[in-house]
Amino acid sequence: MDWYSEQTDLDLSKQNELRLSCKLPKHIGIIMDGNGRWALEHGLTRTEGHKQGIESVRDIVKACAQIGIPYLTLYAFSLENWKRPSSEVGVLMNLLEYYLKKEIKDLNENNVRLLAIGKISSLPKKVQRLLFEAIDITSKNTGLTLTLALSYSGRWDIVRAVQMIAHDIRRGKIAPEDITEEIFSSYLQTSQLPDPDLIIRTSGEMRLSNFLLWESAYSEIYISNKYWPEFRRDDLYTAIKDYSRRERRFGKISAQIHEASKQNVENVKIEK
Ligand code: FPP
Repeated sequence: MDWYSEQTDLDLSKQNELRLSCKLPKHIGIIMDGNGRWALEHGLTRTEGHKQGIESVRDIVKACAQIGIPYLTLYAFSLENWKRPSSEVGVLMNLLEYYLKKEIKDLNENNVRLLAIGKISSLPKKVQRLLFEAIDITSKNTGLTLTLALSYSGRWDIVRAVQMIAHDIRRGKIAPEDITEEIFSSYLQTSQLPDPDLIIRTSGEMRLSNFLLWESAYSEIYISNKYWPEFRRDDLYTAIKDYSRRERRFGKISAQIHEASKQNVENVKIEK
């Protein structure tokens, strides 16, 4: 299915407006929250909530690819989620398997490159196999990079990076005084990704919940009151518009940011 031919005229014009009038984030991270509460409020089982959550995943992935967002990272299963009842963990693993089997063809045909971060070795073997297959099949694609955070936690990745650096110091590959923020970042599982510009969390909760802790140092955070199963592309557009109105100062003052952007415009004029 070609995602670009099935768009309605109305949606196309909304996306064009975003491209023309908004500063688009290069990397969006999403903490998908509220599947269980959505299900409860609709008199459904938690499983139904997670199933409906997959529909939102589909819509948001497609919309990001269509708009031309280069990176999308979805927090699909945290290391802490292993503590849920085993029946629910089983359901989530089955859904992940179902998603990978069902979506891989469409993802590949629409130029999406799939990646995964997290303790992948703790996932069921069948899921691992499908995941590695999907990553391999899509590895040459040049469109949206979709990263699934699975069995992931930010602290786990930081500790893992510290262990690897310690090994490299012991082997004489690196000296302690050589460690910079860039070198440290290169040991994280997210080393291939730029830091997220925008992190969206659904269901009104205002926490990072161990998601991209190092990488989110300067991310803009957007909280949607919608539960994940009801968060769709129009909500994404609202989040992007909100993001584009924010001033990202990275520790500087407003006047410096304005001066730098004026300088950029002048440089572009000179280049032309
Ligand atoms: C949070 O809702 C959601 C999750 C823990 C899992 C997210 C998983 C999916 C959307 C489906 C599978 C994903 C992919 C990428 C195929 P919650 O259960 O914590 O909701 P609650 O806080 O209301 O209980």
